[in-house]
Amino acid sequence: MTRSSASGKIILFGEHAVVYGRPALAVPVTQVQANVDISDSSRRGIWIKAPDVSLNAELNTLPSDHPVASVIHNFLFLARVSQFPNLEINIASTIPVASGLGSGAAVTVALTRALASHLNYLITDEEVNAFTYEIEKLHHGTPSGIDNTVVTYGRPVYFVKDQPIETFNAGKPFTILIADTGISAPTKESVGDVRRLWMNDRSRLETVFDKIGEISFTARRAIEAGKPELLGELMNENHAILRTLTVSSPELDTLVEVARRAGAPGAKLSGGGRGGNMIALVEPENAETVSLALKEAGATNTIITRVV
Ligand code: MEV
Repeated sequence: MTRSSASGKIILFGEHAVVYGRPALAVPVTQVQANVDISDSSRRGIWIKAPDVSLNAELNTLPSDHPVASVIHNFLFLARVSQFPNLEINIASTIPVASGLGSGAAVTVALTRALASHLNYLITDEEVNAFTYEIEKLHHGTPSGIDNTVVTYGRPVYFVKDQPIETFNAGKPFTILIADTGISAPTKESVGDVRRLWMNDRSRLETVFDKIGEISFTARRAIEAGKPELLGELMNENHAILRTLTVSSPELDTLVEVARRAGAPGAKLSGGGRGGNMIALVEPENAETVSLALKEAGATNTIITRVV
C-alpha cells in the first residue's frame, strides 16, 4: 500500500489581491489533513472510495470533470500510463470543504504523490505544484496559485503570482486561532464577483489591491523580524478592505468582532470569504477563551495553530 498526506492551509494576508499580482502570505495548517491510500486491486478498474463525500465508484463511471476523476485522468496522461492499472484508492480528509482551508488542493497533492509513488513515477515538488495548479484552474476559474503552492511545499509562503516561490520563517512563533462559520462558500464565486467589481472600476480596485499588497509586505517583515504583535492591526485593516470588496458576510463579521472583544488584537476572514473560516491572532494563554467565545457566537469548529 502507498500512502500520502497533505495539510490544509490558511491565508494570513492578501487573499483576492493575490489574484491580481499582489503578494499574499499563507501557512500550512497541519491539524487538518487529506490522506490517500492506494493498493493494487483484484477487481478490474480503478476504484475510488471517499466516505467523507459519499463516493464509492469506478473511475470510468464518473464524469471526467469530477474533481477526483480529473486528477487521476490527468495524472495517468502525464505519466504516460496507457494500460490502466487495477487499483483501490481511499481518500479521507479532515479538511472542511469550501471553507478556505485548501481542501481541494490538499486532496490533489496527496492523490498525485500517492499515484506517483505507487506507479513508480518520479515527480518533483515543482511538478506536483504545477500539476495541482492546472487542476485548480479546472475547478476554480482563475486561481492565483497560492493554495497549491503552500499545500505542496508545506511551509509558510510569501506568494506573488508568476514569481519564484519564496518561503519564510517566523522570527518568533505566534498563535492563530481559526474559526469556521459552518457556511460553505465556493471560492470561485467570490473570486468571480471581485472580478466583476474590477471590470467595472479598474482604477479603484487596483488602488485597493495595492493597499492589500502593502499590508502583506509589511506583515512579512513583522513576522520575520519576530514582531508578531504588529500583525493584529494589519489583520484588522485587511479585513476592513476585504469588506469593501464584498467578500465578507454577516457571520464572518460577527466572529471577527467577537474575537476582538474576547481579547484578540486582530482578526480577519481568510480565503475566498462569504463563509468558510476566519482567523484571529491570539496569545497562547488566551486562545481557549477566544475559542469559547467564538463557539458561543456560532462558530462550528475552531483550530489553534502555531506559525513557526
Ligand atoms: C483562496 O484561498 C484565495 C483567493 O485569493 C483565491 C486565489 O488566490 O486563487 C481568494
